[in-house]
Amino acid sequence: MEAKKKSTFSSSIGFVLSAAGSAVGVGNIWRFPYLAAKDGGGLFLLIYIVLVATFGFTLLATDVALGRRTRQNALKAFGTISKKWKFLGYLTFLVPALIMTYYTVIGGWVTKYIVTYLTAQGGAAAEDGYFTSFITAPVSPIVFMLLFLALTAFIVYRGVENGIEKFSSIIMPGLLILIVGIALFSLTLSHTDADGVTRTGLQGLLVYITPNFKGITAERFLGILLDAMSQLFFSLSVSMGIMITYGSYVKKDVNLSRSLSQIEIFDTGVAFLAGLMIIPAVFVFSGTEGMASGPSLMFVSLPKVFQAMGGVGTIIGLIFFIMVAFAALTSCISILETLVANCMEIFHTTRKKTCLVIGLLSAGAAAVICMGYNLFYFELPLPNGQTAQLLDVMDYISNSFLMPFISLLTCILVGWVIKPKWIIEEMEASGHRFSRKKMYSFMIKYVTPVMMAILFLQSTGVFHMIAGLFK
Ligand code: PHE
Repeated sequence: MEAKKKSTFSSSIGFVLSAAGSAVGVGNIWRFPYLAAKDGGGLFLLIYIVLVATFGFTLLATDVALGRRTRQNALKAFGTISKKWKFLGYLTFLVPALIMTYYTVIGGWVTKYIVTYLTAQGGAAAEDGYFTSFITAPVSPIVFMLLFLALTAFIVYRGVENGIEKFSSIIMPGLLILIVGIALFSLTLSHTDADGVTRTGLQGLLVYITPNFKGITAERFLGILLDAMSQLFFSLSVSMGIMITYGSYVKKDVNLSRSLSQIEIFDTGVAFLAGLMIIPAVFVFSGTEGMASGPSLMFVSLPKVFQAMGGVGTIIGLIFFIMVAFAALTSCISILETLVANCMEIFHTTRKKTCLVIGLLSAGAAAVICMGYNLFYFELPLPNGQTAQLLDVMDYISNSFLMPFISLLTCILVGWVIKPKWIIEEMEASGHRFSRKKMYSFMIKYVTPVMMAILFLQSTGVFHMIAGLFK
């Protein structure tokens, strides 16, 4: 039976930019810099780069090759490979479904900050309580979320080549230019505080890139390793079916090995540049303590930094949030596309109809998440020691629980059941050499499953519990 005409990316660069669009998101700009600041600067960077080239590459290659070889989405791809492993498709589908509920909410927050800077209210954003009073408000977070979601749905509605590929091909180079621009500006900053201490952007750069081994113990090193690993997962958008979907749109003559390297370089490059832009700026205006703010960095600490820059801060703030919105939008597109593509395959419906229905369902779910800060507010202790609201619970289930678990199962399936050769053949299907083939086999069979099991035990709090027993 001849398959229905399948959507494809028109070119290899279109694929690379779309996949990089998925990979580069709030994770790169928001989470990477604060992890780097927390986890010993250059030490974290070094560990991260080694992990991207080995472990990240292994997971990315697996997803993309799986998609291209089966030409199907996660829900069906796993079942095609082996009937017994069909459940893994369902499990994988759950991840974008969960992430979709909250990613648009964060996208809405970013959109709100664009409007704030556009209307020159940067001063208000720098005040204590601005962020909290916004997210706890009953209506406005929902309105901004809907705006962001509508834009995402519009692009997915237009299809793979005319929507996703076209849009990513414009946005991603634009994002790169903006981020390089602000990073360079950040390095030129200098400020003298009330105690007469002058700090410069270049000193901030050193704080960022110098490996800091102070207080390193085996336990702390493991902690940094696990932070880098879970960041990598989220950042490369692997183990959630997204790269399987995008892989299924790649033509057979595309050199996968080279494209994957380009995606890794793009994603890691943007994360590095985000650190280069944020860490020196925060250091100049608030010193090293300013960087310990964790997740509140983007919405609480940075507006204070923009305010301290004076008049130019409003423009820099505006450019910054536009850039974050670009990054979040292309990621959100990949999440929605994965949901739509899977459902089209299952229900045999048209793209437009599926997109509309899923868009509406997502709007409802995201509105509930928005209410997690007012009507449904709670403080739930998580197994990993953090306190969570509704949004964090979704994030925890998808990223800390499901993703390592899915990865572990995928490694077992590929490494031991169908064997790495199955993936390697696909990587070489275009006639190009797969230079990291030996490393790939070794990683997928031995190293990655062990690392995934450790990550899973850590994020589900089992390590915590065991450590508690010995205290
Ligand atoms: N990779 C994106 C980031 O770093 C996040 C993302 C998660 C994108 C899940 C798609 C799906 O922000």
